[in-house]
Amino acid sequence: MRIRSNTYEKVCHLIASNIRDLVKHRETPVLGLATGTTPIGIYQELSRMRDTNFSSTITFNLDEYVGLNGWHPQSYNHFMYEHLFSNLTFHEKYFPTEKLYPYYDSMIDNVNGIDIQILGIGTNGHIAFNEPGTPRDSITRIVDLTENTIKDNSRFFDSIDEVPTRARTMGIETIMKAKRIYLVAQGSHKKEILEKAIHGEITPEVPASFLQEHPKCEVFYCE
Ligand code: PGA
Repeated sequence: MRIRSNTYEKVCHLIASNIRDLVKHRETPVLGLATGTTPIGIYQELSRMRDTNFSSTITFNLDEYVGLNGWHPQSYNHFMYEHLFSNLTFHEKYFPTEKLYPYYDSMIDNVNGIDIQILGIGTNGHIAFNEPGTPRDSITRIVDLTENTIKDNSRFFDSIDEVPTRARTMGIETIMKAKRIYLVAQGSHKKEILEKAIHGEITPEVPASFLQEHPKCEVFYCE
């Protein structure tokens, strides 16, 4: 597995174009979507694709905080409306809500799996909210967030005390079942953990390292 370095604009353009190709050619495309700073450029590109009809596309978001309602400004539901869902019409948009998360893996299986999964990586090597120590066979569930993640995410809140300490997240197994994965790491603060995840030992201590075993995972680094 190799890490492809390019500008953030080019990486977002490439991934958005591949999503467009999928959406044009599949009857019911299924996308796995991520939140955070990294995918915003991809969503901007998709939002400009007025010639593409997303109305038969189903989306599954990776994760959601426990304890924030869907319209809280820092909820991932709110984030997705702000950056993508208010711009394009999709067929169904799913989040691992309190109601749905126990069925999330079956719901994904029932639509024949995720065609394209977008992923970021945390500075501790997490993917979605699968924190260090997460086993390979984990599925969608409730997790405790690590101090590191709470600190990283506190930049979006007025104070660190407001950051939720738990979340619902797809598991490593859920993510590994996606047919194609694009992992994007942006910024020099992600370089070291990305190297470790992609070229280091495969270990639950670096959850993103499991992606080395995925047959169709492409990894991008942008300065
Ligand atoms: P970021 O988050 O895109 O905001 O850096 C990535 C992650 O924690 O998975």
